[in-house]
Amino acid sequence: MKRKKQEKPLRSPLRFPGSKSKVLKKFEKYLAVEHTEYREPFVGGGAIFFGKQIAKYNWLNDKDINIKSFLKTVRDNPNYLCEMVRKIKPSVELWQYYRTQEISNSDLIRAFRFLFFNRTNYSGIYNANPIGGLKQLSDWKIDCRWNADMLCKRILECSKKLRNANITSLDFSDVITAPGENVLLMVDPPYYEKGSRLYPVSMSPNEHQHLAELLRDTNHNFFLTIDDCPEVREMYNWANFIPQNWYYTVNSKKKDNVGKELFITNINI
Ligand SMILES: C[S@@+](CC[C@H](N)C(=O)[O-])C[C@H]1O[C@@H](n2cnc3c(N)ncnc32)[C@H](O)[C@@H]1O
Repeated sequence: MKRKKQEKPLRSPLRFPGSKSKVLKKFEKYLAVEHTEYREPFVGGGAIFFGKQIAKYNWLNDKDINIKSFLKTVRDNPNYLCEMVRKIKPSVELWQYYRTQEISNSDLIRAFRFLFFNRTNYSGIYNANPIGGLKQLSDWKIDCRWNADMLCKRILECSKKLRNANITSLDFSDVITAPGENVLLMVDPPYYEKGSRLYPVSMSPNEHQHLAELLRDTNHNFFLTIDDCPEVREMYNWANFIPQNWYYTVNSKKKDNVGKELFITNINI
């Protein structure tokens, strides 16, 4: 039998708090489960989608409208983003200009602004201060993560991978409950404990509870990764836990950020 050609894993142009780019290996075997349709209700920076083999159908969702605009622009207008990336040089003045700029309805403008803050803010956090602070007194300056060649290479490669992807900005419940054949749901919600500090769109305890109920009742194969804390263990008391230890990607070198994460899945391997 002819074996399917393996695609090279790609890196997202976005830095993302809680990104799974460094720990993809840990759930490789779940992503390798045969599926016709792949869905991510909480796609964030897309590290998992860009790092895995592509499925026939792909649905990427995030309630944060900036993420939808960014992924759509990478898919449909990668050259526009690359031109902008090459045209500007990050500075505190430009950063302040974008901060005070009115929110635009244009996907293109929103996408570039989102990328700009993602690559110039501390840890890629949208609402954080610029790397090096407003006074730029640190050795790390605002433009230290703005490598135009690297960014454009990633944008162009990721654009091809997104070609047939359905990109939406819905609530997770719409993505989980939509019918489908041979679906794999990769579920990476905001952390229960730290989520509200990291993302402009986070989830309340009630929303986490609702997610747990939808996953308990779904017929789709799912794989969930979430922080390990007593509240989460209680919500998922119907499931088998697969505990993991790794460093949170935010401030990943600091010892106090050793995170305990749980894998929860209905896939039998
Ligand atoms: C942990 S991050 C995803 C990280 C991503 N897997 C990565 O590796 O880059 C969680 C994402 O959930 C999104 N989110 C928060 N509440 C949501 C909701 N109710 N429905 C869909 N997405 C939501 C946030 O905007 C955030 O991007």
